[in-house]
Amino acid sequence: MKLPMNLLGIETSCDETAAAVVTGGREILADLVLSQIDEHRPYGGVVPEIAARSHLDHIDGLVARALDEAGVGFADLSGVAATAGPGLIGGVFVGVMTGKAIAAARGLPFLAVNHLEGHALTVRLTHDLAFPYLLLLVSGGHCQLVAVAGVGRYRHLGGTIDDAIGECFDKTAKMLGLGYPGGPEVERAALDGDPARFDLPRPMLGRDNLDFSFSGLKTAVRHRAQAAGALGAGPESQVVRDMAASFQAAVGDVLAERCRRALDRFQEDCGQRGPLVVAGGVAANAYLRARLEAAAQEGGAVMVAPPPRLCTDNAAMIAWAGVERLGAGLTDALDFAPRPRWPLEEVRGPKGAPPAARAEPRR
Ligand code: KG4
Ligand code: ZN
Repeated sequence: MKLPMNLLGIETSCDETAAAVVTGGREILADLVLSQIDEHRPYGGVVPEIAARSHLDHIDGLVARALDEAGVGFADLSGVAATAGPGLIGGVFVGVMTGKAIAAARGLPFLAVNHLEGHALTVRLTHDLAFPYLLLLVSGGHCQLVAVAGVGRYRHLGGTIDDAIGECFDKTAKMLGLGYPGGPEVERAALDGDPARFDLPRPMLGRDNLDFSFSGLKTAVRHRAQAAGALGAGPESQVVRDMAASFQAAVGDVLAERCRRALDRFQEDCGQRGPLVVAGGVAANAYLRARLEAAAQEGGAVMVAPPPRLCTDNAAMIAWAGVERLGAGLTDALDFAPRPRWPLEEVRGPKGAPPAARAEPRR
């Protein structure tokens, strides 16, 4: 059941300042994202201090614009949701304090949303999808497989033991002289590349668990790129394009195999085959989406993913998580402390729901 409500969402956990208004009826009334890419580009990555100051400069104006675009005033809101972690803590503070201030001034419920939960639930904003589902969450800071049983009910099935996958895309892009942010640049370069030119490792392939590892792949890219003269050579270089395509193919093989295995495990645990939901910034990658769709199909399941624009960071996903949490009665007090580290399975769920017990110890 969807309640008639308007939620304001605020996202400031990394390098996008974002504000959105979403209804309980799954309408996105406004969805504004202000990228700080130009401010961070000279440094080749996100500088936390610059990010926090930039959020502070822009958040008030952006919230006002979002409400304006949505055609609603503060009085029409049912609640305010803000990303309260995990992320760069200076930026998270800005969003949380803004959200709390609006909630306090207008007497509205406040929802402290876990950024990963935002990614995890977005698919229910864009698709008519019931719980449970198997989630592959692939972003700049995370790579994990999760059984999603309901709002606040997440069970970790496996995850990366070293680098996150988006981070690996970003570092590969940097090595190859493809610029920042790296994911979309690698994807673009790979379009004209030969995925068979470089035989890169497929870490964890065939392992009897659901974990990932990407540091060995990253190192292999560096060594092979150096030997082939691809280091810093840029998007016009054919050897760079071939390396980008070979890298993406290796990542695709690993993700496909891990998800196939996870579908079996999910069926044992939840009694159904998928669906497989893919979310997070890396899920914007068209090649990987196609690989995962094929893998799910071979595994007898369907793959569902939000549109690419809602895979990368945005505030509609935070507003939607607010809708879901408010609907479940999971509001937060105004003294909620932002959390720089906040694993998904530690998100608070409804009282009486089975605990989101972890299947395996988390490293
Ligand atoms: O979810 P997200 O926007 O922010 C985090 O929560 O981390 O994910 C950002 C990550 C970055 O590492 C970025 O390079 C990667 O997602 N990414 C992509 C693509 N678009 C963004 N990776 C591969 N292909 C893409 N098209
Ligand atoms: Zn994200």
